[in-house]
Amino acid sequence: MEQTLVLLKPCTLQRGLVGEIINRFEKKGLRLAGMKMMQLTDSILNEHYAHLSEKPFFQMLKDSMMSTPVIACCLEGIDAVRVVRAMTGATNGRNADPGTIRGDYCVSNQQNIVHASDSLETAAVELARFFKPEEIFDYTPSNRNYLYALDEH
Ligand code: TYD
Repeated sequence: MEQTLVLLKPCTLQRGLVGEIINRFEKKGLRLAGMKMMQLTDSILNEHYAHLSEKPFFQMLKDSMMSTPVIACCLEGIDAVRVVRAMTGATNGRNADPGTIRGDYCVSNQQNIVHASDSLETAAVELARFFKPEEIFDYTPSNRNYLYALDEH
């Protein structure tokens, strides 16, 4: 099983979409292994968005991510990183396919509902950035044999 990080961004809290977005991941069959509300800081965002530090929108992005708390989620499933990225859709909500979260819920490049880890390596680093080990929970979903075939898990 893979684990991946999803952040529900301030736009999602402000627009009252938290339940709908979590519901999508739950309905898909991903296991919620961790979840918490947190106020992001400049230093955690400098790390998290280091690959964008030279971009003209960097400060605006950080300000937007600090404008309210966010909700961090650890989602688990087979191929969870790829599955969650596919559900998330293209960065810009105006380009994201209908049926994806960004395609269905936003019209913006920056106010784009969620962050989702883009590789297994990144997911491990990002989960460690946002969660302490004891904040990730290991429990067995009672419907596991109906989510996956016996030879899949
Ligand atoms: P990026 O890591 O490129 O995309 P993704 O979130 O799809 O993995 O960018 C991180 C965030 O930066 C993105 O979710 C929104 C913001 N952003 C902008 O504000 N303007 C832009 O032009 C781009 C490319 C990203």
